[in-house]
Amino acid sequence: MRRSMVVGNWKMNGDKAQASTLIREAIVTQAELDAADVVLCPPFVLIPQVVDGCIDTEIDVGGQNLNLNKDGAHTGEISGSMLSDQGCRYVIVGHSERRSLYGDTDMVVGKKAALANSFGLRPIICVGETQAERESGSTAMIVQRQVQAIFDEAGIHIFPDAILAYEPIWAIGTGQTATPDQAQEVHGLIRKLIKQHSSRLAEHTLLLYGGSVKADNAQDLFVMGDIDGGLIGGASLNPDDFREICRATQG
Ligand code: PGA
Repeated sequence: MRRSMVVGNWKMNGDKAQASTLIREAIVTQAELDAADVVLCPPFVLIPQVVDGCIDTEIDVGGQNLNLNKDGAHTGEISGSMLSDQGCRYVIVGHSERRSLYGDTDMVVGKKAALANSFGLRPIICVGETQAERESGSTAMIVQRQVQAIFDEAGIHIFPDAILAYEPIWAIGTGQTATPDQAQEVHGLIRKLIKQHSSRLAEHTLLLYGGSVKADNAQDLFVMGDIDGGLIGGASLNPDDFREICRATQG
């Protein structure tokens, strides 16, 4: 039985005051949940505040990215070991904004996932197709290629610690959510791809959906057989919406 998970990806948003409010509400929310985990992924500079605020709670904290190197002359960058040292247990890897704006290729994403794992961080690895790729019928091929790169660069041993998030790019921040059937179809494919390596690991790996998840569509998505929770962007900055989305994991 997989435990549901809701991850709040604050992206480059928030200040200390907003973080305090979001932490407070997330603590209340997590305490209400039976079989679901809540993870908050604030911008790097807010990580110490969120880690401190969540001490002695069930809430975990994650980074939004890590550098491909362990340390050294990489001005402005943050390594996996630093995230780990600050108390993070998770890190988002290969978000489509990193892929499209900052050059994270499939290979880089796979290597970052491996590096995260080596620092004891659970990578939340994002995959997903563009609108044009969906319209041309290439969704399965694209997702398969992205997942294959994870096996090639990081290996099956990072599962089931590694989490995969299916985030169709056309649904991110657009208000245009994938339908539950569209999302389930791709989640089913991803689980099948992991199963080709190991049935047991496929069964235990969490697959999250991300892309315009809101309070009013979360439950319909989360009831699907291969959707184990959500990676939430915009709605994770609104405490009421985030709470409703977390509650939606309870069916
Ligand atoms: P969204 O973002 O919920 O605002 O669509 C999701 C994400 O980018 O992780």
